Amino acid sequence: MMNTQTRSPAPAVAPEDVRLGSGEMFDAIAHRYDFLNRIISLGIDQRWRRRTVDALRVSAGHHVLDVATGTADLAILTAKRTGAQVTGVDPSVNMLKHGQVKVDKRGLPISLVCGDAQDLTFADDTFDGATIAFGIRNVPDRARGLAEMNRVLKPGARLAVLELSEPRAGILGPLARFHIHHVVPFLGALISGNKEYRYLQKSIADFPPPQAFASLMTDAGFRVTEVTPLTFGVCCLYVGEAS
Ligand SMILES: C[S@@+](CC[C@H](N)C(=O)[O-])C[C@H]1O[C@@H](n2cnc3c(N)ncnc32)[C@H](O)[C@@H]1O
Repeated sequence: MMNTQTRSPAPAVAPEDVRLGSGEMFDAIAHRYDFLNRIISLGIDQRWRRRTVDALRVSAGHHVLDVATGTADLAILTAKRTGAQVTGVDPSVNMLKHGQVKVDKRGLPISLVCGDAQDLTFADDTFDGATIAFGIRNVPDRARGLAEMNRVLKPGARLAVLELSEPRAGILGPLARFHIHHVVPFLGALISGNKEYRYLQKSIADFPPPQAFASLMTDAGFRVTEVTPLTFGVCCLYVGEAS
């Protein structure tokens, strides 16, 4: 069952008041999110998610936290691939509702909870692993979100962060930048009619380069063990061990 008790559903807000990247923004696009995700990432997103799950090194009997779980794709993959129990957290009630339908269909040990990465409602040292896919970009205070994940992880447990980044070098860099700056907003606007996909492009361009983000993880108490660019640097996988 989805637990929305920890935080009340987002109140109705005028579109101009919706903070881009927030739970309210994702509430508005939740019904198209999975479809758009596959198109925009050219179907590669599930391959990236598998890498993320494997980086955790968890198995049956472990408990994994998936932050910014959205429609629960990564939570589902983690439960299926490892046998671990998964708790997914996200502030968007609508994204969670779509995720809950998918979880129920598969009968997996996943619970979805409404909440914010910056203020996790779990006790210290609760989880054996944590993930956040395409989510840390949306967290206003990333340092605080990372510190919260460090707090709820057991010492030595792994955090795997999957995030889009702007490819800055390499022969395919210009092609990937063209995809992010032109193809993504065009497809997003065409299919959804929303300005949110402009936000996606801008938020990717504004995200710190991999080494700078890895430093943020270190500052939050993680020992960073891996920073791996994926698919010509369009995406990056960061892995760290909690202290
Ligand atoms: C691009 S979606 C990613 C969803 C999912 N992880 C995936 O792989 O498809 C970003 C998610 O971040 C969530 N989000 C926004 N602000 C957040 C916050 N402060 N704390 C946690 N999640 C947040 C949104 O509601 C949205 O579901």
